Amino acid sequence: MTTEAVTTDPISICNQDPRVNLNLVPLAVCAGARVFFDQTFNGNGRTCGTCHSPMNNFTIDPAFVAALRRWWA
Ligand code: HEC
Repeated sequence: MTTEAVTTDPISICNQDPRVNLNLVPLAVCAGARVFFDQTFNGNGRTCGTCHSPMNNFTIDPAFVAALRRWWA
């Protein structure tokens, strides 16, 4: 197993997360968040959280999109 596989596996990451180990956050919730914020699904490098940012209540609207850094800029 490569180092990258270890560091990108949501369950491995969450099993070391103090919020999970202190029973503040369920393992499944942590793992789901890691998928949402870390996984790019062999796509164009974006994660779900790239567009659905917690800083914009996980939603996307024209003003938020306009404020994102554009890849061609
Ligand atoms: C490139 C930007 C982008 C990415 C990346 C993205 N989304 Fe979206 N998502 C959108 C847009 C745009 C809409 C439509 C918003 C609307 O209609 O108001 C949307 C809509 C949604 C909706 C429906 C929300 C609603 O209220 O109807 C869900 C659920 C959703 N996305 C989940 C995800 C998940 C899960 C991922 C990751 C696997 C993801 N999105 C990745 C841009 C993105």
